[in-house]
Amino acid sequence: MAASLTAMAVTPDDIEIELFLRALQLRHGYDFSQYAPASLKRRIVQLSHSQGMRTVTGLIERVLYEPGFMSVVLEGLSVPVSEMFRDPPVFRALRDHVLPVLASYSQINIWLAGCAHGQEVYSLAILLEEAGLYDRCQLYATDFNDAALWQAQEAIYPAREAQLWSRNYAAAGGAHSLADYYSARYELIKLDERLRRNVIFANHNLVTDDVFCEAHLVLCRNVLIYFGDALQDRALNLFRDSLRRGGFLCLGIRESIDFAPSARDFSAVDAKLRIYQLGNKS
Ligand SMILES: C[S@@+](CC[C@H](N)C(=O)[O-])C[C@H]1O[C@@H](n2cnc3c(N)ncnc32)[C@H](O)[C@@H]1O
Repeated sequence: MAASLTAMAVTPDDIEIELFLRALQLRHGYDFSQYAPASLKRRIVQLSHSQGMRTVTGLIERVLYEPGFMSVVLEGLSVPVSEMFRDPPVFRALRDHVLPVLASYSQINIWLAGCAHGQEVYSLAILLEEAGLYDRCQLYATDFNDAALWQAQEAIYPAREAQLWSRNYAAAGGAHSLADYYSARYELIKLDERLRRNVIFANHNLVTDDVFCEAHLVLCRNVLIYFGDALQDRALNLFRDSLRRGGFLCLGIRESIDFAPSARDFSAVDAKLRIYQLGNKS
């Protein structure tokens, strides 16, 4: 009796999604099992519809047998949306409160985890350039989506985005015109090569990979929101272990460290803007 009740509670959708996630893991090594279930389910169903499928099962066959389909899946499940100077007050706070502290170091390492198509990386590069710090910086921009990383390196974006980005830049306290940092052609803009000169783009998966640099600042914005609690905690531990004492962590404004055991290692620089500083490491 108990077994049949349990069986009835599991919908065919749930079964298909579980099998799909298992296929991703076994065939391609991507583990989504600790992502927040409701939004993950929504994106999987959306992906199957956008691929013209009635059910999720059709996706399973394609990830198993179709070379290259995994990049379509990653693009659908990982939400690589971004914008330059997204949440301008955060960039203003970095400019006013974090960069002056970083200025005391002769070499500054910055890790941007979940960098998507790179808009955030270049926003920070502009901020650092305007603060006269860029030449002392090494930026590591990582994501687990190779196609997104490739686009990030290209630094070519639709020109229609430029208006919003210019407004963001001004609201973030930008000293020039954003147009000083790109050239426009037809419907596209290309950011200046010089913004990329100290950036290393690399694949890094927050589910499975380890710490790889000693950072003075870690930005991981709008990524944890897709993770379940245990995975958020893993990522926060990675950031803590990567930061040197006194280093800064900047999360998305809808994300927080408060729930996590690692929160005790940080103090808030600006709690509302989710900027934290690593205190005494135990
Ligand atoms: C919404 S974008 C955030 C982009 C940027 N940080 C921002 O705030 O504008 C989320 C990014 O997280 C990346 N991501 C999701 N899961 C990841 C994981 N396990 N490891 C590394 N990156 C991941 C996605 O590929 C996507 O590019």
